[in-house]
Amino acid sequence: MSTEKKELLTAYEKAVADGVDPRCIPQKLSGEVPVGSEIVYPDYPANDHDTWQILFTRQMGLLEGRVCNEYIQGTRLMGFSPDKIPFLGQLSGVLSQETNWKVARVPGLIHEENFFELLRQRIFSSTDYIRGKEELDYTPAPDLFHDIFGHMPLLTNPNFANFYQKFGEAALKAEGEQHIWLERFHWFTAEFGLINTEEGRRIYGAGIVSSLNEVQHALSDAVEVKPFDPETIVNQEYEVWHLQPVLFAIESFEQLEEGFNRWTRLQGLL
Ligand SMILES: [Fe+2]
Repeated sequence: MSTEKKELLTAYEKAVADGVDPRCIPQKLSGEVPVGSEIVYPDYPANDHDTWQILFTRQMGLLEGRVCNEYIQGTRLMGFSPDKIPFLGQLSGVLSQETNWKVARVPGLIHEENFFELLRQRIFSSTDYIRGKEELDYTPAPDLFHDIFGHMPLLTNPNFANFYQKFGEAALKAEGEQHIWLERFHWFTAEFGLINTEEGRRIYGAGIVSSLNEVQHALSDAVEVKPFDPETIVNQEYEVWHLQPVLFAIESFEQLEEGFNRWTRLQGLL
């Protein structure tokens, strides 16, 4: 592939072009996906519930004192239990009550355009299968632990929920370089965002929240933390497959929502 053509690829597409795990190749949805009450609870083997229990218990322990209150509040609303993999249909019901969001069940990593279109409609796409025991600490592919445990609790926060919907809307309009800018914005907020609170700096990004290593690394001295600024974020490169050396901290979820809206309006994306 020519360097010129590679420049236009997203970080995930670049990784695939470089021969990374085939589960990380985004699939284009060919038809409708089940949303909310249309979702069926899979017949999980006991081993899968066991995997959930191990991951849930370990991660909740690590998150204490490290994750923001909005996330903790979200886990309470979601009613997560260590004993059983949550049901997407039920989580969708909680979100629809809290912030008018829903959940769709998708078969794996989906194509960006499908993902953004669902976000635009206030629908979060989630997998409903869990990683194997051999990948407890790390999996490059999406799974329900990342999607449910990592992403869903914050969608109960009204400012974050509004921001995420606008993100989908803007991403659908993006052209050329704007795709890369928005991908970076997503990375440094929804996936790897930090927030400054009265009690100190805390985590909110799903990529950190659901990762054994990132959760221990993100608040350490090894990370350079920059203040939230959309223009700086969209020009900050990142590495998908390594611990993050640079992260951004917001002051509040209002700041995230307003800052994103202002920046995207300037770009003509909203
Ligand atoms: Fe994610």
